[in-house]
Amino acid sequence: MPSSLDSRFSNVYEPIFLFIKKESKYNYYLSLDRLRLPANNFANNKNPEDIIGFEVEDSLFKSSKIKGQVFKILKDPENNIFVEVIWENGKRTVEILQNFDKESQTPVELICPGCGKVIKYDSDINNHNKCKGFPIPVLPPKPDVNMSTELKTSVLFPYNDYRLIRTGKHNYKGKFQFSPDNRGASPGARKSLFGEYLVRQRRYKIFQPIIAEYLGFWRRRKGATIKEIDNLLGYKDTAGHWFRKDFGSWGRGGSIPLPGDWFKLKDILKFDDIYDRWVTETHLVLQTVKPHPKGKNPGDVWNIKLQPSSEAHFATFPEELVRRCIEAGCPDGGVVLDPFAGSGTVGKVACDLKRDAILIELVPEYLTIIKKRCPNVKEIIYVVE
Ligand SMILES: C[S@@+](CC[C@H](N)C(=O)[O-])C[C@H]1O[C@@H](n2cnc3c(N)ncnc32)[C@H](O)[C@@H]1O
Repeated sequence: MPSSLDSRFSNVYEPIFLFIKKESKYNYYLSLDRLRLPANNFANNKNPEDIIGFEVEDSLFKSSKIKGQVFKILKDPENNIFVEVIWENGKRTVEILQNFDKESQTPVELICPGCGKVIKYDSDINNHNKCKGFPIPVLPPKPDVNMSTELKTSVLFPYNDYRLIRTGKHNYKGKFQFSPDNRGASPGARKSLFGEYLVRQRRYKIFQPIIAEYLGFWRRRKGATIKEIDNLLGYKDTAGHWFRKDFGSWGRGGSIPLPGDWFKLKDILKFDDIYDRWVTETHLVLQTVKPHPKGKNPGDVWNIKLQPSSEAHFATFPEELVRRCIEAGCPDGGVVLDPFAGSGTVGKVACDLKRDAILIELVPEYLTIIKKRCPNVKEIIYVVE
């Protein structure tokens, strides 16, 4: 609002409060992706051939890390890229190389065999508590290395000169040079200290609570105790975490078995194959400084111009403000509720974004404006005290 204050600074912002029903990272919907902004200052133009000789780390191998080196690059007719890795224990494996521009883990949709609906977000899981059967992941066709041809092979004999492996590593002289503890927080510092390398990671985003439920079902069916499973696998207190559904942020104990443990567990519990690929398929992800593939997080300060209304209502929202809130907080097919509708800006934007909306307004006269701005009003209910 225009301000004539001269004894203090004028207030130029309003807070937007985001409320959720339950304090859990996994129980609410927030789509940052729809609001991401173009990233600046980053170039991302690496070709698969460029990673020949790169160091590979496998942190999914037992509980310790094992290292290897990229020896050969292959490509199939579908443009899937494979990498042959020679590991320090002498083994050679062929790994899928993740497209550098993509998110490190592929999001997965599951189909609920009970109701046939798709499970796409963590928040969808709870809607299927009463459905029968475990949801089935829909995964892309498995790339077949036998169809591929060679793109490039290393001219270096593996491991003959370890210093050649990590590239881009150089003396760090940035702002964290005197505070080593903080370097990990700076992508630039990380890159100059550790160079670029590849990490073997799971290929798909996994909903841990579904896996925990599934493993619990098969464990009860087999009548095996957690202690027995730990004993059989040579662990002390690991198996218990696979059956807990609290997964994610700090202090939560649920975990997903490593690919190797998954198959050992399968020998013990004799479960079926439905989750084998989802849980165990891996790929190599380049650790480098790169922008988020969908753009940068828009941050929590939004600059939005006021938008005066031509109607007889004075405190209308700018449409852009409403758009951002709906895009971020309401999934496709969701319903938006505005308990203080005023001139109906929220209804108009919800309609533009193809969401249904319920508007509540105290002053009956505003209905004329609302109807003008939201031409597809389906139902009007008058509440008289
Ligand atoms: C600031 S305006 C909202 C403007 C709206 N965001 C827009 O873009 O047009 C607040 C509205 O809430 C309505 N209102 C206030 N108390 C209410 C109540 N208890 N129930 C329903 N509406 C109410 C007022 O009549 C007013 O139109």
